Amino acid sequence: MNNTIPATAITKKIVMSGIRPTGFLHLGNYFGAIRNYIKMQEEFECYFMVADLHSLTTHPDTKQLKQNVYRVIAENIACGLDSDKAAFYCQSHVRETSELYLYLNMLAYKGELEKTVTFKDKARQNPDNINAGLLTYPVLQAADILIHRASYVPVGKDQEQHLEMARTFANRFNHRYGNVFPEPHAFNYNDDLVKVPSLDNTGKMSKSENQAATLYLADDDVTIRKKIMKAITDNGPVEKNSTKPDYIDNIFSLMKLVSTKEKTDKYESDFNNASIRYGDMKKDLAEDMVNFITPIREKAFAIINNEEEIKKIMKRGAEKANESALTTMKMVREGMGLNY
Ligand code: TRP
Repeated sequence: MNNTIPATAITKKIVMSGIRPTGFLHLGNYFGAIRNYIKMQEEFECYFMVADLHSLTTHPDTKQLKQNVYRVIAENIACGLDSDKAAFYCQSHVRETSELYLYLNMLAYKGELEKTVTFKDKARQNPDNINAGLLTYPVLQAADILIHRASYVPVGKDQEQHLEMARTFANRFNHRYGNVFPEPHAFNYNDDLVKVPSLDNTGKMSKSENQAATLYLADDDVTIRKKIMKAITDNGPVEKNSTKPDYIDNIFSLMKLVSTKEKTDKYESDFNNASIRYGDMKKDLAEDMVNFITPIREKAFAIINNEEEIKKIMKRGAEKANESALTTMKMVREGMGLNY
């Protein structure tokens, strides 16, 4: 007798993540996040959201907002996020999120919010705008996740504390009002811990810092080549089988992301034979990088200039997200006794 459960009977796990609409996406965003979204959309029920409301906590001027939202949507779609497979929507288009945020605020204590590392950092950076929205940022993030009853949240280490708070609020709600929310946990594919170093050996690629050492998905070919050729190297190892200095290791890391294995192996053995020519290696890397980024840039450019297309994507995403949100909120209101 075969007693395995048919695949169709297993409901897919729910995935949710948010992307802040602040600035141009770069290679680190692609390999650290977007590539996972593209993989997850094949396997799970996915909700990916542009966090426009969250951006108001630190960007009170909304003149650039629409352009930033459009850019982030266009770039993610250009990378392969598929609005037929995942719900890709804008946070402000799911009004129930704000309602859930209000309820969860009653379960969040001032002391724990004040202890959040991101709050303390932001408060230090903007001492003139320590608003209540900034303090309750993790509550809104919890509402984003819980409104879909998501279990998996693909985010980096910097979001771990927010996720832990989302679990706390979910558990408090369940304890007080009955079981509605699963515990959300960070999700990462094992192979996604790739290194995307900046080109000046100062850390990772970044949205706003050291732009000359970061490769953006919107960079043109000339800029990509220029940035890569500027990366520091030296005269090469004097002895065979030396250890690579950090700045050389970084060039290898970038090559591993976009070049063929044969090519990376060739430079690897040139290095070990102490015969490597970094100028050639960088030229080679630059061409592979151009070939990687160009189609994404061109596709994003086409989408961003087609407002109708973007609106269509947002609308379709909002419809799917709202359907899920309404189902959850019905359970939430029932549980709380707000059902009259
Ligand atoms: N706070 C996240 C960031 O800074 C963005 C975000 C908003 C988010 N809502 C979310 C991430 C929900 C995961 C789930 O990147």
